[in-house]
Amino acid sequence: MRPYLSNQIIGIIYPLISFSIFHIKIVSLQLIFSRINGNNIRHRIIVRQYGGVVPELASRAHQQNIIPVVHQALKQAGITKEELSAVAFTRGPGLLGSLLVGTSFAKGFSTALDIPLIEVNHLQAHVLAHFIKEDADDESHPNFPFLCLLVSGGNSQIIKVESYSKMEIVGQTIDDAAGEAFDKCAKVMGLPYPGGPVVDKLAKLGNANQFNFSKPRIDGYDYSFSGLKTSFLYFLRDELKKDAEFIEKNREDLSASLQKTIVDILMDKLRLAAKDSNINEVAVAGGVSANSGLRAAFEDHAKRYGWKIHIPKFEYTTDNAAMVAITGYYKYLEGEFTDKSVTPYARTSI
Ligand code: KG4
Repeated sequence: MRPYLSNQIIGIIYPLISFSIFHIKIVSLQLIFSRINGNNIRHRIIVRQYGGVVPELASRAHQQNIIPVVHQALKQAGITKEELSAVAFTRGPGLLGSLLVGTSFAKGFSTALDIPLIEVNHLQAHVLAHFIKEDADDESHPNFPFLCLLVSGGNSQIIKVESYSKMEIVGQTIDDAAGEAFDKCAKVMGLPYPGGPVVDKLAKLGNANQFNFSKPRIDGYDYSFSGLKTSFLYFLRDELKKDAEFIEKNREDLSASLQKTIVDILMDKLRLAAKDSNINEVAVAGGVSANSGLRAAFEDHAKRYGWKIHIPKFEYTTDNAAMVAITGYYKYLEGEFTDKSVTPYARTSI
């Protein structure tokens, strides 16, 4: 794709807090059609033996990998670093040590190349992933305003998106995220991390109406998942007293029932938000959007409530650098550049 080489942005992404997977993924985008120009490179390191991310190990791994990964990304994109137009980096929220590596690199890289530095909010980037095009003629992106359900290991939010830069959180979890609920309940069943995909797979073989888990009663559009986790734990504890093999015997039904409960909780509030705001264009983002039950629920809502739904390719729903680059692209067009004195932030909203 050499014709568009004059305008390239490189995106840098860093992980959120409290997951056992983190990755660096870098992609270059050509600016004219926002078409993905180079292959994505994912550097995924799983710290299974610790059952979660060890922040110090994560930032060291980022330090070791960032230069080779950038080098490889440029090589795969078939461009040189001199052809880049800007460097977009994740300022937060996330693990501070890893964010520091990315921020420092981005500052140095943009200074050396004398090109703009652009900070990106990780959550906004998830939403704008819906505007990534692999094909220049692709016009399937959402129209403003739309609602985006952001569901990952660290987020469960309903976001009202008015423009590329104007977004408002209308509802969010008051405790655990949906992905955390999947992961923690899976752990209780003795399933490996991350539990979400494993539960999804088992759920396909089970009866979703076999067990009933209570849903939280929270006002408005907010979510809560910690109660479900606790009731799941207590339910298993009681059943295991009666039958030590209860989990083994019921793994599929437990997974299906758990998944149905989580999906119902997510969709109930999303449906309410869509109805109250009179918006019927609804998107989903984040790792949990890979869930087959959630995807089916979206399809079902499209048919039943006339929603226009947007479910991006899986590689753009989970954490990725293309979403950082596309966010950088829109900021670049607006001339929203970042001063070199910038520091990362571990926590922030949209
Ligand atoms: O967005 P993501 O890849 O990473 C961050 O949160 O940073 O999301 C990871 C979360 C994990 O909790 C994982 O269990 C969940 O997404 N997940 C799933 C599925 N695939 C990933 N949850 C349910 N069903 C899936 N198929």
